[in-house]
Amino acid sequence: MIVIEASILSADFARLGEQAREAEAAGVDAIQIDVMDGRFVPDITFGPGVVRALRRIVSVPLDVHLMIVEPQRHLEAFANAGADRVIVHQETCSHLHRVLQAIRRLKIEAGVSVNPGTPSSVLDEVLDLADLIQVMTVNPGWGGQSFIHSQLDKIRRLRHTLQEQQLDIPIAVDGGIDATTAPLVVEAGATVLIAGSSLYNDTATVAGNVAALRASIR
Ligand code: DX5
Repeated sequence: MIVIEASILSADFARLGEQAREAEAAGVDAIQIDVMDGRFVPDITFGPGVVRALRRIVSVPLDVHLMIVEPQRHLEAFANAGADRVIVHQETCSHLHRVLQAIRRLKIEAGVSVNPGTPSSVLDEVLDLADLIQVMTVNPGWGGQSFIHSQLDKIRRLRHTLQEQQLDIPIAVDGGIDATTAPLVVEAGATVLIAGSSLYNDTATVAGNVAALRASIR
């Protein structure tokens, strides 16, 4: 089963609650909240308060993607706000093993993300602590960027590694995921699709865009 998560990064921030509800009504399996601190990535976006607010109005899982330095300082705040999963970047954790342990101690899922320039082999020693691995298919910081095709091979190699070790860890992909690139990443082994600008845009409704994305991988 392919999971589709709506990234609210490209939603209308003046109507964030409505847009989250639209994605839920459109049948997305979860909502990904892109937290940016202006240091690890140039933009600044949401904090735990937005997670808390969305927790009150949607029932689908909330997946918090921390594109921030020192994520270990904020784990409890996001967990208490209602996050079902927190994803940290390997590049921001000098003690990644400890950070993933800390997330799990909060009784929520622990995800780890790698940027396009980071080999997935950096995760070899923490696979036992990862509930999800997120392969960035853009350089993080903005929505609406172009898909980086070189990551397809990384996804394939990662899938092979996980299969070799009989690890059933879902591979998520994030960045430039639309009806054209979704079949490519699914074929490579991704089972969780994070989509922002392909769902939130002026071309069609959120429901129409979710339906088109699902149809592209059927
Ligand atoms: C990093 C963000 C984006 C977002 C999805 O910049 O993590 O990848 O989730 O953005 P789109 O789907 O518009 O590329």
